[in-house]
Amino acid sequence: MCGIFGCVLLKGSAVEQIQDGIKRLEYRGYDSVGIAMVDHGVLQIRKDAGKLSDVSKRLKFSEMRGSIGIGHTRWATHGAPNMINAHPHTDSNGRIAVIHNGVIENFMELKKELIEKGHSFVSRTDTEVIPHLIEEEMKGDVGLRDATLRALRRLKGSYAIAVLSSLEPDKIVCARHESPLVLGVSKNGTYCASDVPAIRPYTNKVVYLRNGELAVLTVGGYEIMRVSDGAEISRDLEEVSWDLEMAEKQEYPHYMLKEIYEQPTSLRYGLRLQEKYVELITTFLDRGKEVFLVGAGTSQHSCIAGSYIFAKLARLTTYPVVSSEFVERYGSTVGIDSTILAVSQSGETYDTLKAIDHSRMRAATVLGLTNTVGSTLTRVSRAYIIQQSGPEIGVAATKTFTSQVLVLSQLALRLARLRGKLSQDEIDEFEAKLKKVPGWVENILERSREPIKSLAEKYIGDKLFIFLGRGISSATAMEGRLKLLEITYTPALAYPAGESKHGPISIVEKGTPCVFVCPRGDTHAEIIGSIMEMKARGARIISICEEGDSEIEGISDDTIGMPKGIPELLSPIPYAVPLQLLAYELAVLRGLDPDMPRNLAKSVTVP
Ligand code: AGP
Repeated sequence: MCGIFGCVLLKGSAVEQIQDGIKRLEYRGYDSVGIAMVDHGVLQIRKDAGKLSDVSKRLKFSEMRGSIGIGHTRWATHGAPNMINAHPHTDSNGRIAVIHNGVIENFMELKKELIEKGHSFVSRTDTEVIPHLIEEEMKGDVGLRDATLRALRRLKGSYAIAVLSSLEPDKIVCARHESPLVLGVSKNGTYCASDVPAIRPYTNKVVYLRNGELAVLTVGGYEIMRVSDGAEISRDLEEVSWDLEMAEKQEYPHYMLKEIYEQPTSLRYGLRLQEKYVELITTFLDRGKEVFLVGAGTSQHSCIAGSYIFAKLARLTTYPVVSSEFVERYGSTVGIDSTILAVSQSGETYDTLKAIDHSRMRAATVLGLTNTVGSTLTRVSRAYIIQQSGPEIGVAATKTFTSQVLVLSQLALRLARLRGKLSQDEIDEFEAKLKKVPGWVENILERSREPIKSLAEKYIGDKLFIFLGRGISSATAMEGRLKLLEITYTPALAYPAGESKHGPISIVEKGTPCVFVCPRGDTHAEIIGSIMEMKARGARIISICEEGDSEIEGISDDTIGMPKGIPELLSPIPYAVPLQLLAYELAVLRGLDPDMPRNLAKSVTVP
């Protein structure tokens, strides 16, 4: 899950735009970076391990010349992050440069074949076979486009690639299969990139390349064709609705903090879903004999929360399943009576798409909930809904979690109405509560940042945290744990609080910080018991509870007060916010970059 960017400009140097494009894609991977440009028929390549900001200075990227070029920021899958394995990779004569996002599964056999034909390889990557394959095809006096087409037909696996060559210095050839790629057209040039934020500064006119398509970019525009048979494909430009500012940090030091503070707005947008899609998805859910909620990471936590909401509101049993385990667990039973609601903010997560592909092959109904228009999930779903969170750049999902739970709540309410499971009064009351959600989050953001900063200072030295909740709050606790774990690298546990006495309580020592999620509701009495259990072993109790909840406040060392009147079923949305802030503040206090946690990337497009 790397970031690729390319541009062909009418005039001016491309190096700045390439660096800017890579910078905007760094959330996809940042362990090494490289640029290739053609100037006066000469292919220049500079690349090394490290983040763009360091490598660019070290290798003086700004000295590179030309109005056409490609750039890559990497998240290593094959070959350690070092200069040799960094992209672009070239052919034997250094005249063809390729950048790639994805995994070539049959690269070993292709490499063997090419070595037998006299090619030699310098890196341990899968990608390096591509420029050599193209070189091999071009030997037959075949042009760059057709040689790339032929080379791609030899590849098995996933790819988004961009090819630049000094042999045909006026064009970039790019293509995709499974990994995302979008084109952009402006008055001054043509672009390709892994994601819209990278080209948004130059244009809002885009084309989403589809699986198995190749495009040739020149200053005049683009032509698209099918990889399998070279057939020409015409596709109109689409307009991107959100503006650049939404993809900028504005006055915030980090994207994560900006996106946490954007939640009141993203939740308000999330309450204005497109009616016809809500209707369609609800109808499909109603028909489903068995309904699976499938997602990875934070999206998985939305699925867990959703399963409580569907059961309690619409009396619909749903099965929340971790994407990477779906095929193994339900692959042999899923079928025509199954409905899969896949949840993925990027709409490109490999594990989730794999679960979907398997289900579709067995005639299951696939529905999608995503934040990304034009993503693969939107194309493979029978019906999908866009959660309207706006672009999320920080690797740690924040506003996309709260929007997902908000959308799932609205679908459950709609289904409850369709099935007559709630009285009109109950429906009206829940709808009124839904409308209050953005205001509650606004209130929490205004009041709790400072107390959470002091909390972070108090617990800065702790090496282990335990997050606990009961009922739907176990999903909130898991999300809190994931935020802390992924951006502070602090070991942390999370599980339904009732499980403590079945094992985990054994690790609790004097002073172990236990974070409890305790909204008012059906689980309130039991969570008090769980707190007492941990307290009895010397744990320090941090409780997220309703303001003035004296029972909880009385048995906790620290509390973060939540606005009154939040129903338990909607509590994962506002109650996740202080947990997002706690993780953020601890990361910043520890001098870590919350936007680009080590070993992670925003969308995981490989197995
Ligand atoms: C969450 O903060 C992480 N970035 C990660 O767990 C993420 O939720 C997961 O990779 C799923 O991504 P998706 O929603 O784009 O499918």
